Order: sequence, then structure tokens, then C-alpha cells
Amino acid sequence: MKEIVVSGIRPTGNLHLGNYFGAIKNFIKMQESNECYFFIADWHSLTTHPTPNDLHNNVKTVLAEYLACGINPEESTIYIQSDVPEISELYLLLNMNAYLGELERVTSFKDKVRKQPNNVNAGLLTYPTLMAADVIIHKAAKVPVGKDQEQNLEMMRTFARRFNRMYKEDYFPIPKAYNFGEQLVKIPGLDGSGKMGKSEGEGNAIYLGEDPKKIRKKIMKAKTDAGPTEMNQEKPDVIKNLFDLMKVVSTPDTIIHFDELWNNCEIRYGDMKKQLAEDVISFTAPFRDKIIDLEKDEDYLRKVTQIGAEKARESAVKTIKEVRNIIGIRKF
Ligand code: TRP
Repeated sequence: MKEIVVSGIRPTGNLHLGNYFGAIKNFIKMQESNECYFFIADWHSLTTHPTPNDLHNNVKTVLAEYLACGINPEESTIYIQSDVPEISELYLLLNMNAYLGELERVTSFKDKVRKQPNNVNAGLLTYPTLMAADVIIHKAAKVPVGKDQEQNLEMMRTFARRFNRMYKEDYFPIPKAYNFGEQLVKIPGLDGSGKMGKSEGEGNAIYLGEDPKKIRKKIMKAKTDAGPTEMNQEKPDVIKNLFDLMKVVSTPDTIIHFDELWNNCEIRYGDMKKQLAEDVISFTAPFRDKIIDLEKDEDYLRKVTQIGAEKARESAVKTIKEVRNIIGIRKF
């Protein structure tokens, strides 16, 4: 039997190379050997109060981008969270046993309180209960989580265990972290800092759907230093970043070539960046073409989300019926 895996995707902007190599590439493999549910967490994103058009466009963009990356609607169930109302019912039920103290202790909540003291809404506080509902609605065994989501996973486990204990029934499986086996590939940013991310500022990340001209411009502007002064010198972080980026998009020959130039103190960053830009463009071009095609094909996107919602609801309706019965919400 295949294991059930649930993964939520926040509809916030465009995917960059860091997202692709950090998670999505692994999702493609994960879906081959598991029963995967991928959903776009549009309710979660309401905590930040997007405009209706932004919300809709962001959902559409991430849907097109995940499909372009190879999330396969025939292999996996792909749906939009708000298409499955049973999740909101389970969220309500779980909230009755979610305590203020434990919700307030979640680090990401505390960060939000500090950073945006004027928008500490109940949705933010109960973000972990909604996440738990997302996952246990399908009685999932596993959730792929990054470092930043580990505490949320711990909360899901707490809520699932609490339900089982309260009703003296081994009903919900306790979800575990899905491990991707091999080391996760971390993609550095272009500004010399450690990680590619859009919050690090424009210019730091390269998007899968980005225009080649813009990619060239960003890479040519990437941070470097004054150059090596000794043979075989260790590379400082800013330079190592460029090499690390090369490792995921360029051929081994190219990397060896620039590595030798570095070691001989003959490297010219301009040349290296030109090559890197062309290799990034070749790598991203097929994604970009697919994203553009998919965003135009609303009929297809509608079909994918309708089929996804049907499949997701089949599983969700079954769970919520059983949960109601367990809780004592029963028909006369
Ligand atoms: N909170 C996750 C994120 O920020 C998105 C998410 C929502 C999620 N619900 C989920 C992830 C359920 C895994 C399972 O990336």
C-alpha cells in the first residue's frame, strides 16, 4: 500500500530556483511512490489580507508553475484548499481543543507578533490548527516539511494525538516528516547571502518563469569580490555561491573550466557570469514556456482543479463523516 502524503503550497508569488531544487524536484519523485495530495493553501494566505485579484492570480500562478515543474494531476491529487469545505469543518472542531498557550508559543506566530503587531489575527494564531486539518483530513502518514515548518508538524501531531486520546480511539494516524533521503540542495542567492529567497530583495532570486533578459541582468549584477590573490585559494562565500549555482545548471566541463581559472588566479567574473546566465536560461527555458502555455489555458486549469477537488473531497467527506460520528454529532 502506498503511503498518503499531504503537502500544502502557499500561493505567494513566483517560484524560484531555490524552491525548485529545495523542494519541488523532490515532490516530483515523491509522487511516483506515494499517494500524494498537493493543495494550494489559499485560506492560509488570507492572514495577510491579499486583494481579491492578487489572491486569485497568485493561486493561478502557483498552480501553473507546479504543473509546469511536473506535478502530475494523473498521478497525484492537486486541489485548492478552499474547494474542500470539509477542511474548514475539521479546523473548527480541532480549534475546540487547541489551547491559547500552546498556539502562542509557536515561534512563527511570535515572529509575526513582533513584526506586525497591528495584524495579529486569529487566523495567524490558529494557523497550526488549519495545517493539522489539511493533513489529517486525508489521514496522512507523512508531510514533507522544511526546517521552518517543523514546529507546525509537531502541532499537527499533538492535535491528532489529542483527538485520539480524547475519544479513546486510534482514529488519526500521527503524521511524520517525509524525508527526501538525499541531502537537500540549498541554492544560494545572488546578493552574496546564503539563501535564494524573494524576501531577500529583488535581484537575489531567479524565477523559473523569468525573462532571459532579466536573468542576464540579475546574474551580471550578482555580488563578487576583487578576485583571488593566491593560487588554489579557498573561495569566499560570494564566489562559492556562484559556483554552487553553476553546479545545478552547467555541465561538469564548464565547472572544471572556471574552477581551474580560479585556482590559477586567472578568473574573470564577467566571463563566468555570462556563461552562468546562459546556462540558467537554458535550464529555465522549458519551464518558462510551459508556465506561459498553462497560464493561458484556463480550461485546462479548471479541469485539473475540478478533478482534484473531487478526488480530495472523496477522502475528506469520508473522514469528516467518521469524525462527526466519533464526536457525537449524529443524526436522529
Ligand atoms: N505552512 C506551509 C508553508 O508555509 C504551507 C502549508 C499549509 C502546509 N498547510 C500545509 C504544508 C499542510 C504542509 C502541510 O509552506
